[in-house]
Amino acid sequence: MSQPKYVGKMEWPVSVQLNKGLEGAITNETEIGYVDGEKGWLVYRGYNIFDLADHSTYEETAYLLLFGKLPTRNQLDEFKQKLVRYRAVPGRVIDVLRMVPRETHPMAALRTGVSVLGNLDPDADRGTLDSETEISIKLISQMATIAGAIARVRKGQKPVDPDPSLDHTANYMLMTTGQKPDAFTEKVMDIAMILHADHGMNNSTFTTMCIHSTLSDMYSAIVGGIGSLKGPLHGGANEQCLADLLKIKDEEDAMRYVKECIAQKKKIMGFGHRVYKAYDPRARILGKFSQEITEKMGMGHLYRIAKKVEDEVIAAYGGKGIFPNVDYYSGTVYYAFGIEPAMFTPIFAVSRIAGWCARVLEYITINRIFRPRAMYVGARDLQYVPMDQRG
Ligand code: CMC
Repeated sequence: MSQPKYVGKMEWPVSVQLNKGLEGAITNETEIGYVDGEKGWLVYRGYNIFDLADHSTYEETAYLLLFGKLPTRNQLDEFKQKLVRYRAVPGRVIDVLRMVPRETHPMAALRTGVSVLGNLDPDADRGTLDSETEISIKLISQMATIAGAIARVRKGQKPVDPDPSLDHTANYMLMTTGQKPDAFTEKVMDIAMILHADHGMNNSTFTTMCIHSTLSDMYSAIVGGIGSLKGPLHGGANEQCLADLLKIKDEEDAMRYVKECIAQKKKIMGFGHRVYKAYDPRARILGKFSQEITEKMGMGHLYRIAKKVEDEVIAAYGGKGIFPNVDYYSGTVYYAFGIEPAMFTPIFAVSRIAGWCARVLEYITINRIFRPRAMYVGARDLQYVPMDQRG
């Protein structure tokens, strides 16, 4: 059978400037958030992260990210009531979570849970700005319920029903641990949730926007985002980082650990960042809490080990702009509060859902499908070789 032929000679690409990993690429304009990597600043909708950590709550921050302004009291009350109303997930989502093998990583189970949630939502494919906004609010509420259920089901325990009298973070902690957090734990966990809510065009945010830019649905986009966040170079670093710290015996051992990583050119989890070349402001806040909480819980040695590792890494790599990132101290805080390490990255996801949705919603109004190109460096001008003539 004869196929059409190209006319003329094939033009091969000339070499172009290639920034590996899309470093420095600008994907779109945004009003949602800004990271100044040289100074170590983080801003959501014009408000700096230190002010938000001091004064805001997760619900208020989620509202700010989604709708662009700090809410009035009435707007916040309405938003919070909606989050409470949406908390319960269909029983079939929990049924599916029970079928997931116990040893499955909670991030993989979360991906499955959110996918099933989308299968059960009759509005999933409406695709309007209004319907996607409503789904965003549902997801902010229900991802916490699913993550809480995963924490229980994987240990053979019954999921804990949401408690409508509790705020979002306290209720999430209750569903995860089975216990209402005290006021201090709730406050610190709420601040951690604020700190993780958005962060520029990070890999998982780009993934969600990339998927949604095809006019796919919000659930598909968020399932992709969870898959991206799971990786140890991204959100998965918090769990890996704590696992590494727990293997270190004392401060002297910490020096040995860092020396060994340097000698083996091994990346140290919780350090370095594509954008920050200065100290990550989120790590500043979490580091302070880590010191206070580990001390309070009789785990002060864990903080001292972490601090020694930090000092050694900065002494070796600070000149290259490598400092602790958000994932460095968060695990020590969660661990001191008794949360099992496998549930650390889901906390990140349950917070980041606000940023993922806000950025997808913002992009809907200016949508253009994301479609970069790769630089072809493969073979050229080969003649097709029939099967019986191949060596
Ligand atoms: N330990 C030791 N060296 C490092 C580290 C580290 N954690 N991070 C970067 N470097 C070195 C790297 O070896 C390379 O050195 P050289 O130029 O001599 O080859 C240089 O710094 C640039 O590294 P890179 O991997 O090309 O940088 P990137 O911008 O592609 O990667 C990163 C950023 C966050 C993936 C990387 O710093 C890393 O792998 N860190 C450890 C994992 C981690 O903590 N991830 C959480 C990131 S922050 C929160 C989040 O996004 O979830």
